[in-house]
Order: sequence, then C-alpha cells, then structure tokens
Amino acid sequence: MDRRFRRAAGNSRPAACAPQSLISQLSTMNFRLRIWRQPNAQSRGKLVGYEVRDISPNTSFLEMLDILNENLLDRGEEPIAFDSDCREGICGTCSLTINGEAHGPDHPGAVCELYMRKFRDGATITVEPFRVGAFPIIKDLVIDRSALDRIVQAGGFISARAGSAPEANSIPVPKHNADLAMEAAACIGCGACAAACPNGSAMLFAAAKVSHLALLPQGHPERESRVLKMVQVMDAEGFGNCTNTYECEAVCPAEISASFIAKLNREYVRARFRRGMGE
Ligand code: SF4
Ligand code: FES
Repeated sequence: MDRRFRRAAGNSRPAACAPQSLISQLSTMNFRLRIWRQPNAQSRGKLVGYEVRDISPNTSFLEMLDILNENLLDRGEEPIAFDSDCREGICGTCSLTINGEAHGPDHPGAVCELYMRKFRDGATITVEPFRVGAFPIIKDLVIDRSALDRIVQAGGFISARAGSAPEANSIPVPKHNADLAMEAAACIGCGACAAACPNGSAMLFAAAKVSHLALLPQGHPERESRVLKMVQVMDAEGFGNCTNTYECEAVCPAEISASFIAKLNREYVRARFRRGMGE
C-alpha cells in the first residue's frame, strides 16, 4: 500500500514476523529490555536491564516505553528520557536504534510506527540512541539533531514571491519533476540515514532537501548558492561522505531513494562549474 495512504488508514500494518493466528492467541507479551541510560552529555552511559510484562501485541513501541516509565515512576526511579512528538511518522523526532537498526526492524517506518507484535514474546530488545558524532547525546535516548537544522538554514529561503496561491498553470512543472520533488519533500528529517551509514553521512538528508527545491522552478534563483552552502555546512558539522553502502535508503522511513544522492552530486558539480565560470 502506498505509504501516504497507509498513514491515512491509521497505520494498520499486519504483523510481519509472526503468524497472525499466533498473535491473536497471545493476549499479552513479556520483554526484557536493555536501554541506554546516560544522565547527561558529560557522563558515561551504560545499558541497563528492565522487564516489561503483560504488554498487548498491539501496543506501539513508544507506548511500551511509556508503560515502562509509569512503572519506574511508581517505584520512585528516574524515567527514561526519549523523544517523540507526532507519533504518526511525520515529525522525525522518535529516533532510536533498536536491536542495532535505526528505527528498529519494521522498515519502512519510524519508531512510532513500530508495534510490539513485531517482536517475539520473551525477546530481549536493546534500545540505544542514534550513534552519530554530529548528534551528541543529551540524556538517555535523547540526542541533539540540530546539525540537520543548520544544514537546512544554510540553504536559506527562496526569493520567489510567496503570496496567495498562483493560478495552477501559470508556472508549468513537468509531471516527472513534480513527482520527484514530492518524493524528496517526504523527508522527515529524522537522521536515520546518518545513523545507519558506516560513515555517519547525512547525504541522503541533504540530497532530499537540495533536490526538492532544485526540481521546481521556484527554487531555481538560489539553486547554486543553496547546494554549495548546504554541502559546506554538512561537512563542517562533521558528517561523513557517501561510499554507496545504501544503508541510508534501507532504513529511511520516508523511502527516499539513494538516487537523490547522485542528484545532489550533480547539483554540486553544476554549481561549482557555473560559479567557476562567473555566472
Ligand atoms: S532522508 Fe530519510 S532517513 Fe534521512 S532524515 Fe530524511 S526521512 Fe530520515
Ligand atoms: S514521533 Fe513523529 S515521526 Fe515518530
């Protein structure tokens, strides 16, 4: 099912790992958790073991963490800090590494779209923050992903007049370009691409942002300056380079194609060439 329609339909994906008949027999499930605890950015962290019991298979992963936190608060213990906002795969804040995979085992999808029925009853689940040098840990599972914001800020705004909506046919956009721009615009800025990449590269993210505007006429006045500045900031923030491992594409909840990285490279070379020609 198309991802946008799946979201609209309430995210009712069937379980992929266990037969539906078995899941319906399981009224509740139990899990052992190993969760990264780190009081603050300066201190050393470690994996701490917890148990959660009587969890419905239809509980989302974040709801399971909510239940664990309720239990911790009842026992007078410090709850686990983790990020979330929309809880429907739109905002990109729920960035976790689960059993070594960015966003967990149910691709494509963000952690908030992951359900406990995806795991075996009695399974041990390891939960860590994204491990990227450019995303320092703030506390427990919460990381600082503002490096991605600074890349977007470097791209600046478009100078095309943004008044009331123009007549639809006044700026013709080829259908192919409109579709590609729409695909690129689906990036939710979660940072999973950088977390999954062995080089800690944010090129899939930057490629989506650069391509989105480069494909549309409204984005053309700043086309060269945008890509040059965004790549410069991406490098300055400490992200690595792409070496074609395709891990980014594999974990991207928005299904951004790695082919956009090729477009980013073309846009960058084009901009350098045109700037070199003094245009
Ligand atoms: S390209 Fe995909 S994985 Fe990377 S930030 Fe955007 S949505 Fe997340
Ligand atoms: S909480 Fe918004 S994408 Fe997961």
